[in-house]
Amino acid sequence: MTILTGDCRDLMPMHGPFDLILADPPYGDTSLAWDRRVDGWLPLARAALKPSGSLWVFRSLRSFMTTSRAFADAGFAYAQEIVWEKQNGSSFHADRFKRVHEFVVQFRRADVPWSAVYNDVQTTLDAVARTVRRKKRPPHTGHIDAGHYVSEHGGPRLMRSVIFLRNAYGRAIHPTEKPVFLLEILIRTSCPPGGLVGDWFAGSGAAGEACKLTDRRYIGCEIDPKMAECARARIASVLPFTEGTRP
Ligand SMILES: C[S@@+](CC[C@H](N)C(=O)[O-])C[C@H]1O[C@@H](n2cnc3c(N)ncnc32)[C@H](O)[C@@H]1O
Repeated sequence: MTILTGDCRDLMPMHGPFDLILADPPYGDTSLAWDRRVDGWLPLARAALKPSGSLWVFRSLRSFMTTSRAFADAGFAYAQEIVWEKQNGSSFHADRFKRVHEFVVQFRRADVPWSAVYNDVQTTLDAVARTVRRKKRPPHTGHIDAGHYVSEHGGPRLMRSVIFLRNAYGRAIHPTEKPVFLLEILIRTSCPPGGLVGDWFAGSGAAGEACKLTDRRYIGCEIDPKMAECARARIASVLPFTEGTRP
């Protein structure tokens, strides 16, 4: 568990190869001082990624549309996206919908097929109760009756691509902090247990906390020394859980 202080373009290429790269760069959507777009990191991330690895990037659609060529130019191919829906959001314009979601898009190396990318599809137990009908075959051949059983909670099903989670409003260390549970989902899906996660724009180190909770190794990088110090303290205060010991 390491947080480096400095520019990820200088420091992170030395620490790969990564099983998973998480990137939550400034979106560059506003004129706010901290919201300056960072260029040039994508080819470096591509070079630092294992063949079976993938890159998950947080961005607004506006930001993706203005930078979409940069992903292809760097050797990345689109894989899939999820939408994080939050309980409140930002309103930069009074004449637009209130924005209560973020896009998180997964890219793979363009030279590697999707089938070779590490992908442990996550399931959820929140399916509703349902009755499942199936044929019941008696011990002797001949007569076949219809039978059924009731599944109490519906059993596991694929996680949905729209995930509602409260943001860290009121207790955040960083103004654009991401929920640890959302990062846990991405990490469990796209990084093997014990694998190495690179968090190129670490902010408060939320992804470091998620790695500690999921038993993945973590290297984060943050350019702001004060924020990097907060991230280190945050990660140090988290007790590690190991698979199988969670309730
Ligand atoms: C959107 S925030 C990340 C928030 C983080 N995901 C969290 O949950 O706390 C982007 C961060 O990237 C940092 N940053 C900007 N340029 C950087 C660079 N070139 N290298 C490393 N970090 C950078 C900013 O200081 C900021 O803290």
